Order: sequence, then C-alpha cells, then structure tokens
Amino acid sequence: MPVIELRNITKSYGRGGFFRKKERFDVLKDINLDLHAGECLGLVGRSGSGKSTLGRIVLGLEPPDCGSVRILGNDVTGLKELPRHVRREVQVVFQNAIGSTNPRMTAGQIISEPLRNFDGLKGRKLKNRVAMLLEQVGLSPDDAGKLPGRFSGGQLQRICIARALAPSPKVIVLDEAVSSLDMLIQARVLELLESLRKKHDTAYLFVSHDLRLVNRFCSRSFLMNNGMLHAFHPELNADTEAREALNKLSSAILPPLPERKTGKEHAGMPN
Ligand SMILES: Nc1ncnc2c1ncn2[C@@H]1O[C@H](COP(=O)(O)OP(=O)(O)OP(=O)(O)O)[C@@H](O)[C@H]1O
Ligand SMILES: [Mg+2]
Repeated sequence: MPVIELRNITKSYGRGGFFRKKERFDVLKDINLDLHAGECLGLVGRSGSGKSTLGRIVLGLEPPDCGSVRILGNDVTGLKELPRHVRREVQVVFQNAIGSTNPRMTAGQIISEPLRNFDGLKGRKLKNRVAMLLEQVGLSPDDAGKLPGRFSGGQLQRICIARALAPSPKVIVLDEAVSSLDMLIQARVLELLESLRKKHDTAYLFVSHDLRLVNRFCSRSFLMNNGMLHAFHPELNADTEAREALNKLSSAILPPLPERKTGKEHAGMPN
C-alpha cells in the first residue's frame, strides 16, 4: 500500500482581479501519484509550476478542487484537519524556516512540541530526545535554550528538520528544505535522511530546484510542467515535452554567463 495516493487531483486559483477580470487558472491538472514507503521521490519544476501546492495537498493543508488524497490508506480528501494518528505520520520542512518557527519559542521548545503532543514525552526523556535530534542535525544540545533570532538561516532550517524528524513520521515533504544549507551540512543532513529511510522506511517528497541533488538523492523523479507531472530521468528522457521543460529549467538554474558589456552603459563605472 502506498503511503500517499493522489488520484485525479485538480487545483485552480483565481488570477487577476485588480486591473482585469478575475479568471481561474489550473495549477494542477488531473495529477496521479503514489509515494511508497522508503522511497525518495523528486519533484522539480520552474518557479510557480505548482510543486508547493502539490506538497500542501499531500499534507492536507489545502483541499484539492477534485480528486482524492489517501494517506496510509486513510481517505483524507476534504477533511479540515487530519486525524491525529495520520498527522504525526506526515511532516514537512518548508524553505522558509523563519516563517515556520515561532520567534518566541526556543529551539528546544520548537523541537519538543511534536514530542509532547504525539508521544507525551516530558522531563529528562524529552530533554534527551531533543538533545539527540539537535546533534543529528549538526547542532549542539546547548542550542536548545536559544531563540530563533540567534540562529543563522541554515541553523534555523536544521531546527525545522529536527522538528520534522521528531515524531519519526512515515512521510516527510521536503520543500526546498536543504537549499539554504552549505554543502557540508547539506551532505550531512542528506546522509541522515538516507539512513532514516533505510532504517525506518521513511518516504520523502523531495521538492528542489537542484537537479544534481535530485539525481543523487531520489530514486524516481517528476517534472511539474503546465500542471502535469512527467516522469523523468535527468539523463535519459523520452518525453519530448518534459525534455524541453527540463532543458529550460536547467538553463534557469544555471544561467549562461552574462556577456561582457562594453561601451556607454559602463561609462562612469569603476573598473
Ligand atoms: N493561495 C493561493 N492563491 C492564489 N494563487 C496561488 C496560491 N498559492 C499558489 N498560487 C499560485 O499557484 C502557482 C503555483 O504556486 P506554487 O507555490 O505551488 O509554485 P512552486 O512550483 O512551489 O514555485 P516555487 O518553485 O517558486 O516555490 C503560482 O502561480 C502561485 O502564484
Ligand atoms: Mg514552492
């Protein structure tokens, strides 16, 4: 049984409305996707192609217009809130760590929240588990007492990763979760995720702009283009439309070096 089953998911939003008549546009068109236990599924696509929208639907944060969502066999389509036993199994790390942490809660409190809520941990046991999670993401147990304002963006991102790992979920949506980390920490976090995948069969929906990372870390990958998913392998890609979109995406990620400009536009510029 897949841990996540999406069937015929459609989602549209309203666009315009200020200068011109509001119209609807389809972000997701008839999406079907199965995520299996222990697999890392890559999702790439241009900015605005609907990757995060799909992630939010998987997490039950947003309802689809049509279609159904099953998490661990439970039909959760259209539910305002996921049932508790399902909620602990699907965690998320968003790109924006600052926006997804309460500035008045210490790192320890942030990571403790799911441990208290779902496992009822407290006292010494809770403290030890928080310390272990902090160490796993390359931070120190002493960091538990600090507020988010005292961490760098990458450190705060690691606190979010520790929070997502805390309830030992079956699925983690990683929405550009490692993009802001320096390469050394990135490698360490990916290694940790990989070992959890092997040990606990954790599944990942890995949203990224970095094709090299997706290539290395994911067993299957999809490209989101015009509201549809195209299975792809970064090197051998049979589907022409997906290949074209992929080429555009690669060139957007690695833009050609700007041509050296000469002449008037540089007049007055220091050399
Ligand atoms: N709540 C909303 N209301 C209206 N439009 C929305 C809403 N959420 C997303 N959109 C639009 O839907 C499209 C897809 O957005 P989404 O955030 O899923 O893209 P994305 O692929 O994650 O992009 P990025 O790579 O920049 O994160 C965008 O055009 C966005 O403006
Ligand atoms: Mg996004």
